[in-house]
Amino acid sequence: MRIDIITVLPELLDGPVNHSILKRAQNKGLVEIHIHNLRDYSTNKHNRVDDYPFGGQAGMVLQVEPIDLCISKLKSERDYDEVIFTSPDGETFNQPMANKLSMAGNLIILCGHYKGIDYRVREHLITKEISIGDYVLTGGEMAAAIISDAIVRLIPGAIGDEQSALSDSFQDNLLAPPVYTRPADYKGWTVPEILLSGHERKIREWEHDQAVERTKALRPDLLD
Ligand code: ADE
Repeated sequence: MRIDIITVLPELLDGPVNHSILKRAQNKGLVEIHIHNLRDYSTNKHNRVDDYPFGGQAGMVLQVEPIDLCISKLKSERDYDEVIFTSPDGETFNQPMANKLSMAGNLIILCGHYKGIDYRVREHLITKEISIGDYVLTGGEMAAAIISDAIVRLIPGAIGDEQSALSDSFQDNLLAPPVYTRPADYKGWTVPEILLSGHERKIREWEHDQAVERTKALRPDLLD
């Protein structure tokens, strides 16, 4: 898989994309993540990529040309499954969407920007608009990082134990059961007895019951 992220703030993505699981998945050759600075596609001698909006409103708007140049260059090199735009008015991101995108070959993610973006980009270049929730961020970089993280960790081999991605919260519309580690007794705060019993089948049943109970209590909407 290959993810190309286009942004005016590449430094914001450096941390999330080049550490931990995302870094390891890249080192293992499971995914390539390329970050493109939109300013490199500016046609202006001052490297500007925004301009005043038609109609006289306040603020500046990202221009269509540098975005088109960047996306066209990428598309001339390979085919893309989706050209994603991160925006609070997109479709709300969830686990089924992450599952589907994790099976893609190549993705472009264009980060939205508080200044707004020439609407022709959305009309002509974008195939999918994604919001990470009903709140407004200053830009789409955090959203792009979150979407990339949720997708990449699903690629087989990205997290040590493939089983654990499948048993995540939400994969079966159930929240994950509680987990514990040593010591079994800390200040009298004890671990449920069943987990120390060594009885595999009963432990799995307990975990499932706990998952159902936690989902009923915390996210009953998932059971609908
Ligand atoms: N950009 C600003 N807010 C956003 C959100 N909630 N989701 C995705 N991109 C955004």
